[in-house]
Amino acid sequence: MKLFEERFNLFFNDLVLQKYIDECLAKSIKALKVKNGNTPKWNEALNELNALSKGHLGLNEPYLSINNMDALSEIIESKLRKFLPWRKGPFILNDLILDSEWQGDMKWQRLKNDITPLKNRRVLDVGAGNGYFTLRMALEGAKKALGIEPFLLFNYQYAAINALHKQDSKSMLLPLRLEEMPSMPIFESVFSMGVLYHQRDHMLHLSNLKEMMASDSELILETLIVDGDKGYSLIPEGRYANMRNVHCLPSIETLKSWLIDSGYRNIRVIDISQTTPNEQRKTQWIGDNPASLEDFLDPSNASLTVEGHPAPTRAIIICNN
Ligand SMILES: C[S@@+](CC[C@H](N)C(=O)[O-])C[C@H]1O[C@@H](n2cnc3c(N)ncnc32)[C@H](O)[C@@H]1O
Repeated sequence: MKLFEERFNLFFNDLVLQKYIDECLAKSIKALKVKNGNTPKWNEALNELNALSKGHLGLNEPYLSINNMDALSEIIESKLRKFLPWRKGPFILNDLILDSEWQGDMKWQRLKNDITPLKNRRVLDVGAGNGYFTLRMALEGAKKALGIEPFLLFNYQYAAINALHKQDSKSMLLPLRLEEMPSMPIFESVFSMGVLYHQRDHMLHLSNLKEMMASDSELILETLIVDGDKGYSLIPEGRYANMRNVHCLPSIETLKSWLIDSGYRNIRVIDISQTTPNEQRKTQWIGDNPASLEDFLDPSNASLTVEGHPAPTRAIIICNN
C-alpha cells in the first residue's frame, strides 16, 4: 500500500521526530490492516493517480491548488470520484474544482491572524480529516505538519491529493487516534478542530493534547458550544444535527473551566460563529445521497437542529500549556 510508507522516512528525517519513527510506523501499519470492502477500489484509483505526472501544490484562496499537471481534468476527476464523499476542502486541480461539503477556508480565515505564525514550527493537526488543513499548515511554512486521522477513507483522500503533486517532506498524515500516539512533547502548535465533542472523555482529550506540546506551546481548539452559564453543558441524547457520537457541548465558560482544570493558561476566545449552510453545504462531491447542514436544521426555525437542540455554533480558543 502506497499510503504513506514511502514518505515515512523522509518526513521523520528530523532530529526530534526521528526518535518516534519506529513506534509511529508500527502502529500505522497495524491501523491500515483494518478490513474495509472499499480498499481494492481505492488502491486501484490511487495507483492510477500515482502514475500521472506531478504538478505544484500551492494556495489559491479559498482553494488548495495543484497546477501544471499534464493529465486531463476528466481523468483526474474520474479517479478522485472513487473517494467520495469529499467533506473537507476545497481544492482546485488545474481547472477542476473539487468543491467539498465544507468551505474549509472560512475556518482558516477565522484563526490565521490570531495564531502564532507557523513558520519553522512543528505542528500537530489532531483529527485532520483528509489533511486539507494539515497541507495549509505546511504551506504556511511549518517545519513539519503532522496530521492524525483514524478514518481510513480520509487517509486515502490525502494520499490521492498527494499523488498529484511533487511532494516535499513537510507534511504527513498518520491513520491514528490521538490516544494511540506515543507521548511526543515536541509540537509547538497543536490543533484540535472539530474533535473535542466527539470524545467520550473530553478531559482525557485535553490532557492527551497537552502531552504532545513542547514547553511554552500553543493549543488551537475549535469545538461546538452552546449558550449557558459556567458549569452548563448539553449532553444530547441520540443525534445532534444528525451527527452520531456527539457527547458533550459546553458553554464557553464551561469550556474555559475545562481548560483551566487541565492546566492550560492564557486562554483567549478568538472567535464564536454559528455554522451556516453557506459553510457546510451539499455539493456534487459528497455522493449519491447528499444531505448537509440545511437538512439537519429545523425547517421552520434555523436556530434549532432537527432534534430541537440549539443549531451548531463553534468557538475557537487559543491557549498555552
Ligand atoms: C469533524 S471532523 C474535523 C476535521 C477537521 N479537523 C476540521 O476541522 O474540519 C473530526 C475528525 O476527527 C477525527 N477524530 C475523532 N476522534 C479522534 C481522535 N481521538 N483522535 C484523532 N482523530 C479523531 C474523526 O475521524 C474526524 O475525521
